[in-house]
Amino acid sequence: MTLNTHETDFDRKLNAKPPVELSVRDLRIAYATSRGPFRAVDGISFDVQPSSVLGLVGESGCGKSTVVKSLMRLLPDGTQVDGEVLLNGQNVLAMTDGALRKTRWNKIALITQSAMNALDPVICIGDQIIESIQAHENVSRKVAWARAESLFTLVGLPTARLREYPHQFSGGMRQRAVIAMALSLNAGLLLADEPTTALDPIMQDQIMSRIRAIQDRLHRSMILVTHDIGLVAENCNTVAVMYAGKIVEMGPVEQVLVAPEHPYTIGLHNAFPRMLAEGEERPPLISIAGGLPNLLNPPSGCRFHTRCPFATDRCSAQEPPLREVQPRRSVACHHAGQAVDFRRRATNPETWATAARGTS
Ligand SMILES: Nc1ncnc2c1ncn2[C@@H]1O[C@H](COP(=O)(O)OP(=O)(O)O)[C@@H](O)[C@H]1O
Ligand code: SF4
Ligand SMILES: [Mg+2]
Repeated sequence: MTLNTHETDFDRKLNAKPPVELSVRDLRIAYATSRGPFRAVDGISFDVQPSSVLGLVGESGCGKSTVVKSLMRLLPDGTQVDGEVLLNGQNVLAMTDGALRKTRWNKIALITQSAMNALDPVICIGDQIIESIQAHENVSRKVAWARAESLFTLVGLPTARLREYPHQFSGGMRQRAVIAMALSLNAGLLLADEPTTALDPIMQDQIMSRIRAIQDRLHRSMILVTHDIGLVAENCNTVAVMYAGKIVEMGPVEQVLVAPEHPYTIGLHNAFPRMLAEGEERPPLISIAGGLPNLLNPPSGCRFHTRCPFATDRCSAQEPPLREVQPRRSVACHHAGQAVDFRRRATNPETWATAARGTS
């Protein structure tokens, strides 16, 4: 990707910033509700290596956005957050407000799914980007504007449009502007929370390839949050699959998505269209019947047992820990050893229909 002549300032900043390594340890998050604590995230741990992309995947409501908001400390007051969020060894959860201000946007930046909410309707977009730069760095307006122009070029927007207001932009352009803004401080870790969900498929592809190009070009680390397993396959190195506030399977994308071992991942795999091997017939898409359990009163044992076609008595009695089954590959299922058989049976829609009728 070619950058314009303002590259120098941007690259100087790039080189000045060390790579970011994230290590999340036993993160537990409970929202305060009138009906008691709602444990949206229940003891998850994962790492994001410098320059790598972690996909955080799972159906709507499983706790993905709660996790990314906690990394930026953007959860509502009163939310109980325990565990550690180590950013290059520094615990974000224990930072003073001053240290947090220096970290947010500067070291970790967030792109959310609702671009419109992230932009002020009465300030032109260029000025918004400049404000965000100048809030963190002691640079002149001219330098900040030059960087905003670089960023617009990077996300594929004409620099002349920096002087326009959000309502003059299409949805896809607004989303690119938000990405430009999120990148304006060159944070080492980019959190992209369903960055393309609101867009049509062509625009989704365009924006994702922009984000990826930027991530490759700037060697940033990224967490891509999505319910779409296809996006993970195309964009991530590692994947963590969440179900009802827990990570149920984690590992290199090429392993987890090709040969999933947790029945929930197997189910997700069947529910999305995927790349086929040469000569392979397209299998039917099968959705996982039922919904997420109520976390005010989570099911006993394995949280997936109410929907799992392979559940046994042990599954409802005993919670399966997330165990390393191979180096860098973990699965939380009592019966992960039977994954080959599960994958074969899972391609039969009747397997899931039986689970839905509660006769597993
Ligand atoms: N402020 C809040 N108060 C209470 N519950 C919340 C709040 N925000 C989210 N939740 C609940 O936490 C769960 C996880 O939500 P979220 O992290 O947004 O899931 P995802 O991003 O995977 O769709 C959901 O059941 C949601 O209803
Ligand atoms: S532990 Fe049991 S219920 Fe849970 S995913 Fe494995 S087989 Fe299914
Ligand atoms: Mg979400």
